[in-house]
Amino acid sequence: MSNLDHLFQRNLEWATAIKERDPEFFTNLSKQQAPDYMWIGCSDSRVPANQIVNLPPGEVFVHRNIANVVVHTDLNCLSVLQFAVDVLNVKHVVICGHYGCGGIEASMTDHEHGLVDNWLRHVKDVYRFNEDKFEGLDHHQKHNLLVELNVKEQVRNISNTTIVKNAWKAGKELSIHGWVYNIENGILKDLDSVVSSA
Ligand code: CO
Repeated sequence: MSNLDHLFQRNLEWATAIKERDPEFFTNLSKQQAPDYMWIGCSDSRVPANQIVNLPPGEVFVHRNIANVVVHTDLNCLSVLQFAVDVLNVKHVVICGHYGCGGIEASMTDHEHGLVDNWLRHVKDVYRFNEDKFEGLDHHQKHNLLVELNVKEQVRNISNTTIVKNAWKAGKELSIHGWVYNIENGILKDLDSVVSSA
């Protein structure tokens, strides 16, 4: 017997509740996926993509990593992006950061956290690129600003991938959006950094 039986129980209740509302839900969804949205977010357990935008299975193609970073040499993230854009033809790629992000916070200190510190170098770079903007701010303000600047940097990184550039060159309808989620009230904020052409 698994000591995670409660999760299987919850799964059964969830699937049963959906089937009660829509008996064909899983049958229809099993035939294809056609999401309009790709979500790149933080791995933080408090920031679940589908739930935040209140969308059911089948609507959001998701990639998550610590501090929602898009690195040009990260084959994992780039493969998800490429499949979303080239094969699924998503119309929107959302990069969503969040206030209170442990990854952002860790990048602002010199404490050692292990391997992840190497990953967070990318966030430290964002701080370094924008160092002058942080002058005179308290720690909380610095954190929030770095969360936002990190999202904007990733919007830029996504827009500069060959995947997105080629999609735009081919005339595809595709927008990149930068959002921040507030874990204190559940509300999303649009950073107005949408990019929709090369
Ligand atoms: Co986070």
